Amino acid sequence: MLRPDYPIKTVRLLLRPFETTDLDDVLAYRKLPEVNRYLYSEPSDRVDAAERLAKQVDQCELTDEGQELVLAVVLPEADRVVGEVGLTWHSQEHRQAEIGYVFHPDFQGKGYAREAAAVLLDLGFDGLGLHRVQATCDSRNEPSWRLMERLGLCREAHFKECEIFKGEWRGVFVYAMLADEYRKLK
Ligand SMILES: CC(C)(COP(=O)(O)OP(=O)(O)OC[C@H]1O[C@@H](n2cnc3c(N)ncnc32)[C@H](O)[C@@H]1OP(=O)(O)O)[C@@H](O)C(=O)NCCC(=O)NCCS
Repeated sequence: MLRPDYPIKTVRLLLRPFETTDLDDVLAYRKLPEVNRYLYSEPSDRVDAAERLAKQVDQCELTDEGQELVLAVVLPEADRVVGEVGLTWHSQEHRQAEIGYVFHPDFQGKGYAREAAAVLLDLGFDGLGLHRVQATCDSRNEPSWRLMERLGLCREAHFKECEIFKGEWRGVFVYAMLADEYRKLK
C-alpha cells in the first residue's frame, strides 16, 4: 500500500496528483507526434487528453497490484505541469513494479525527468517495499534508455522484433534495478 504525502518536493520540482485544471499543460505535450513516437498512444486532441486526465486525477495511491500511480511534474518557476511519471504495481507477492515517464520537449534535456523518476524509485523501494523495479522502452528510444541508465537501472534484455508497433517491428529493452542495488546507490 502506498499513500504518499503530496506535494513531493525535489530540488527543482513538485510532484503531485493531477488536477482537471492541468488540461492545457497536458495537452501541450500529449498532442505532439514526437512525444507519442514510442508510446502506445497517438497524439491526443483535447477530448482524448481530458479523458486521460479524468482517470489520472484518481491515480494518486496504490492500494492493490495492477494499479498505476501517476503524478504531475510541476516546475514551480514556470508555474506549469511539464511532464508526468508513473509507477505501475505489477505484483504484490513478487514485489515488482514498472516506472514510466513523459515530458514536454521544451523541458527535456534539463535533467527534470531524471529528478522526477528518482522519486518513483524512492516511493517504490522505500514506500512500497519493492524488490525490483523495471522499465521498458523501444530499443530506438535512446533518450528513454539513457535515462534508465542515468537512474542506475541495468539493461537485462533486448527482445528483438518482439512486437508490431505502429505498423512495424520493434525491439524492446528491459531495464531493472533491485532493492540492494538501490540501497548501494543511496
Ligand atoms: C524519455 C524522456 C522522459 C527523457 O527525458 P530527458 O529530458 O532526456 O531526460 P533527463 O531528465 O534525464 O535529462 C537528461 C539530459 O539533460 C541534461 N541536463 C541538463 N541539465 C541537467 C541537470 N541539471 N541535471 C541532469 N541532467 C541535465 C543531461 O546532460 C542530459 O542531456 P543529454 O541527453 O544530451 O546527455 C523524454 O525523452 C520523453 O518524454 N520522451 C517522450 C515520451 C517517451 O518516449 N517516454 C518514454 C517511454 S518508454
